[in-house]
Amino acid sequence: MEPALEIARIAKHEGKKVALKGWVHNKRSSGKIRFVLLRDGTGIIQCVFLKEQVPEQAFELADSITQESSVEISGTVREDKRSPGGYELSGSDLKLISLAEPYPITPKEHGVDFLMKHRHLWLRSQRQFAILRIRSELIKAFHDFLDDSGFILCDTPILTPAACEGTTTLFNVDYYGEPVFLTQSGQLYNEPLCAALRKTYCLGPTFRAEKSKTRRHLTEFWMLEPEVAFLDLEGCMDLAENLVAYAVGRVLERRSPELGILERDLSKLEAVKKPFPRITYTKAVELLKSKGRNLKPGDDFGAEDETILGQSFDRPVLVHRYPAPVKAFYMKRDRSDPNLALAVDMIAPEGYGEIVGGGQREDDLKELEKRIKEHDLPRQAFEWYLDVRRYGSFPHSGFGLGIERTVAWICGVHHIRETIPFPRMLEKIYP
Ligand code: 4AD
Ligand code: MG
Repeated sequence: MEPALEIARIAKHEGKKVALKGWVHNKRSSGKIRFVLLRDGTGIIQCVFLKEQVPEQAFELADSITQESSVEISGTVREDKRSPGGYELSGSDLKLISLAEPYPITPKEHGVDFLMKHRHLWLRSQRQFAILRIRSELIKAFHDFLDDSGFILCDTPILTPAACEGTTTLFNVDYYGEPVFLTQSGQLYNEPLCAALRKTYCLGPTFRAEKSKTRRHLTEFWMLEPEVAFLDLEGCMDLAENLVAYAVGRVLERRSPELGILERDLSKLEAVKKPFPRITYTKAVELLKSKGRNLKPGDDFGAEDETILGQSFDRPVLVHRYPAPVKAFYMKRDRSDPNLALAVDMIAPEGYGEIVGGGQREDDLKELEKRIKEHDLPRQAFEWYLDVRRYGSFPHSGFGLGIERTVAWICGVHHIRETIPFPRMLEKIYP
């Protein structure tokens, strides 16, 4: 079978006769004219059928066809400035491939619960089309940026015996009788990899048995995690800033039609230029207090604090040097104040919360052994990880960027559930 012409490439065929394959997005009629909106996964085009100019059968089909039926349409491409894609098809024939049963998602408004239940079909909507294309562009931009900067992509395991981000959000798996977990982060594996390859990164699914339902939490989400040998906290912040600024620029450059579908305020994204503000945790607490938040010294930020922090700047803000107790066991302490961890979080503007978390790693064997004990982690599961400190230890840093939260922010989508094709959340495993 010849691959059908894609609607996205129709401009090159102006004035020519073409055949398109896709699904009926919508239809309407007016006297002796039938309009079929054809969606083919690359775009949407209006096809016009005039009674005198098409076979009788085709004209009748244009009347009886149901939403989401698959069809083949032939016709001539005409420029039409008023239509969304700039082109229209003067239809000469319409052939049925498969008639759709009454489609549950109609052009009227549906509730989110209903749409989530039909997520596999909801994906065919224009809004989801735009979000998924931006997600794809963003991931491609991350790969390009890191590849151009000399990073080596290394895949890290999904099944792991060692908890990276605390023991309260682990999914347990029975591994031939041995208890293991679904990974929370590739970091523990990125660290030995960066001793082998200097600059490495992984991009993969990570899992957290989150107990709460929020608009920012999934139980399965994708994380991009670079790790660099001989990089300190400041260098780590530079890397995160460069990466995010580049990726936002790429989406603006290449995905403006999709941002348009989402009615995204472009000026907000255009403001995302280097340098990003950098403030210490201590300064961030002062700022939050000045805005009426009731924080005690040493408190971690809650969702509302992150929202307010993010809304205080017109671009992402890097908050660094957190109280060590609120951060993971592997964080290096600040030499000038050992109560502080050399951690950094990047908080997105407009209330999208933390999109990046990372920092400088503890590279002293004795210190790290102490932390593993303090955090009540099983020492034996971390022996191999300690080897990174035993054999030529080195300062190193890295971070994890949450793909879905970043997509939510860039798309201006309120809830994270729309940023991944099939979201996994508390009480949500179908479809
Ligand atoms: O801050 P987190 O927990 O950092 C780590 O896992 C580090 N080990 C990463 C590293 O240094 N290599 O998670 C990193 C990012 C967060 O900033 C957030 O964007 C995202 O992952 N994230 C989630 N996204 C969706 N749902 C969840 N439940 C998430 N938890 C974290
Ligand atoms: Mg974090």
